[in-house]
Formats: sequence, C-alpha cells, structure tokens
Amino acid sequence: MDRDQHLRQAAYKEIEKHQLLVEQDPYRLHYHIMPLVGLLNDPNGFVQWKGTYHLFYQWMPFETGHGAKFWGHYQSKDLVNWKHEGIALTPAEWFEKNGCYSGSALVHEGQLYVFYTGNVKDEEGNRESYQCLAVSEDGVHFDKKGPVVQLPRGYTAHFRDPKVWEQNGAYFMVIGAQTDDWKGAVVLFTSSNLVDWKHVGIIAGGGKGPLEAFGYMFECPDLFHLDGQDVLVFSPQGLEPDGMKYHNVYQAGYVTGIFEAEKTSYKHGEFYELDHGFDFYAPQTTRDEKGRRILFGWMSVPDQGEQDHPTIQHQWLHNMTLPRELKLVNGKLYQSPVAELRDLREGDAIEREVSINQETRWVKGVEGKALELELKEINLKAGWLAISFGGSGRIVYSRNDQVFTMERESYVDGVVEKRQTEVKELHDLQIFLDTSSIEVFINGGEYVFTSRFYPSPNNESIQFRASQTVSFHLKKWKLRR
Ligand code: FRU
Repeated sequence: MDRDQHLRQAAYKEIEKHQLLVEQDPYRLHYHIMPLVGLLNDPNGFVQWKGTYHLFYQWMPFETGHGAKFWGHYQSKDLVNWKHEGIALTPAEWFEKNGCYSGSALVHEGQLYVFYTGNVKDEEGNRESYQCLAVSEDGVHFDKKGPVVQLPRGYTAHFRDPKVWEQNGAYFMVIGAQTDDWKGAVVLFTSSNLVDWKHVGIIAGGGKGPLEAFGYMFECPDLFHLDGQDVLVFSPQGLEPDGMKYHNVYQAGYVTGIFEAEKTSYKHGEFYELDHGFDFYAPQTTRDEKGRRILFGWMSVPDQGEQDHPTIQHQWLHNMTLPRELKLVNGKLYQSPVAELRDLREGDAIEREVSINQETRWVKGVEGKALELELKEINLKAGWLAISFGGSGRIVYSRNDQVFTMERESYVDGVVEKRQTEVKELHDLQIFLDTSSIEVFINGGEYVFTSRFYPSPNNESIQFRASQTVSFHLKKWKLRR
C-alpha cells in the first residue's frame, strides 16, 4: 500500500471509530458544516462547478489538534444540504509531508485545478513552503502535479494559502506571506498557463502604505471584484487591541481598492474587520454561477483557547460559518446569509408584534437551540435592549452608547467576556442559533458577530430585556438538521 492509501484508510478508520461519540455530543451542530471526526479549520477550494458547490476544508482526522492537514471535501447542489465526499488530498508526498495547507480552486478546460501549500518541516522545526497544483476530472479524485511556485527571496517560509483567479485572459495568484523583516504581506504572482508563475511582488502590507504597522504575518488572502471595487480579504496576525477593535488573538478583514491587472498594481484603503464576534478567521469566497460572491469563514481563531472547547471530549473540534452573500455598500462589505438557507426552516414562523419593558420577558413560543430569529422595525429610541440565549450568551444594544455587544460565558474559565463595535442605530437583526454557535446579522448584514458558546444542553431559553419599552416585529423559525 502506498502512503496516500495508508493515510486514507487510517483516516476513514478514525471516522468509523468515533462516529457514535461525535453524534452523541449535545453540542454537535445541526446545520453547520463540521468535521466527521477530528479538527476542521479553513475553508479551501470553494467553487461552483457544473452546478455543484464544492467546499474543501483543512482537516486533521487523527486528533482534535493541528498537524499534517488533509483536504476533506463536501459537495452541495444548494448550499444547504451537504454530502461528505471523503478525502481530496492527503499529506503523502515529500513536498507536503507536514500538511496540505490552505488553497483555492479554479475551473480550467473542463477540469478542476486546486492550488495549495505543501508544508514541510524538518526535525528542528525548520519550515519549507511549496505552492502545489493538483488537477481533477471529476472534482473528487486528484492528480498531484507537485510544486509550481518556489519560495522567492525576501520572505520567510511563512508563505502560503494561494488564491488563484482568471482575469482578462491571464491568471493571478495571491499568497499570504511574511517578509524577511517580519512584516505581514500579500504577494502577487501571474501566469499565462497556470503552471509557470512569475513573482510580481507585494501588493498589500510589507510594512508600507496604509498597512504600514500591521502585524508579522498575513494568512489566507483573497482578491476579488465586487460592485465596482477590488476587495482584498486577508487574516493578519500580530495586531494589538485598539479600542473596540482587534480583541481576538488574530483578525480577519478586508481593504477595498482598485486592482489594475495590466499594471499588476493594487491601490487600497484602510482595513476593516469582517466580523465582530469571538470566532471568525481565514474566510474564503467564490463567485457562483448566479454571479453572487459567497463567503465561508472558519468559526474559530487559531491559538484562541482551542483545546478548551468541550467538544473535544467527543473527538471533534470547530466548524464553518453559514455561507454568506457579500455586497459592497458605500465602500463597506455587507454579509447576509444566502437566500437558500430559508430551506432550513421547519414549519411556519411564529410571528408577533412584541413590546419589551423593564421586566425580564419570555416571548411565547420563542425558545430552542437550532433556530432563526428575525427582529424588524426595532423601535429603540433610548436605553438598551438585551437578548440572552441558553443563559450563557447574550447580545446587548445600547442606543445611548451606540454600541453593540456580544457576551458569552468563557468556555475556558466561565468568566463573562465580551466583544463590541459601534452601531449608530439598530434597525433589524437576523440571528442563527445552532446548539453551540450563534451568528448575528445586524442591519441587513452591515455588522456581523459570530461566536461559539456552550449553554447547558437542556437550557433552551431565550430572554428579552430592555431598559424601557422597546417594540419590534418578531419572527422565529425552528431550523432542521
Ligand atoms: C489559517 C492557517 C493557514 C494554513 C492553515 C493550516 O488558519 O494557518 O495559513 O494554510 O491554517 O491548517
């Protein structure tokens, strides 16, 4: 048996061995993408091809920790019902022996091309990084072509996560990098045939321009055209907290600007965080066949209490966010759950005109652990409105302070922790709750808070409170598995 087959068999055995344990976890998610066993991190190779959405993911089948990553694979016709397709890539070859790290997919001449980082480490922990190509006829089985990009001068071996696209008949690749003097950077390559790549240089960061003092490493870049601008999404490491910003261990956000393909130049503005919750990192987008720009994020942050999640007792860790459609409105990215997610709704909505006052309030029929809540026409002229979930997660909007807060009981030490951002006015909320995750979309996706949290499994309560009378139109749907 060769190494690839050996790794595949060992991983499938792991799934079999722990399937029951994973399924019995009360914190197992009902409608989010999660690993069958082990640890899942970044979304990879997200693409729609001949009608089918393919979502690959960073996967460690053997433990709930990081290590020599595989690419796992899910497929879907509708972004709602996902089928596990098994293993796409195993870290079997010399150029990827310590992990088939993150990357992207592109349809070319009837085949699926995936570009990923081959991570290699020696006994002393010295790293090598190769950008590799694998090609597939059916989207399931991959033929590895090996490295197509070697590490250029000027960067450390923290050089990874190629995102490839076609524009005006040419091919482009952005890579997350660290310069020799330890600055985070996004590096551009070009190609005419997807095999021979030319190093152009740094297009964002590198200790210059609007991102002058901006951390020591950028991961998972993604550059795309949207609503008249070119948006560069990436995940910087090494930012210090700044007011309400940057409180997670690492960040994920974007800049907007103009990418001139002919001149291979990118002029951009300042950085904005994509999400204001506790758990969001390494997002990746694709343009689907309807022309929508859709994003998946990883619902976690590296090195942020990862080993303290209670799900590791059930031999699994982490999940994806819901798929979100992106729009650019007045230079800001809006994210809204894709319309297809309405298919998750089970039965009719509970619908009410609600008025909340100083007394703690339950709204009849509004409870549960896998549900969608919609609050529209929120009438909150002063004071605050709070909604708590399962007694251990809470959102609060203070009209007086113009601040939106998400709180949770930390799964590390039980202490209440919070994340915040400025929100001038609260018009509407769309909330997705899924046993141990929450995604809150504010004002049609202008702001998003994404977090894991762990209410006690039989506490399905949802409580509303306000400092003075607040009214809104409420809808609640139970969501299916
Ligand atoms: C981001 C990341 C990527 C890397 C991958 C490894 O979470 O660190 O930079 O390719 O995860 O799993």
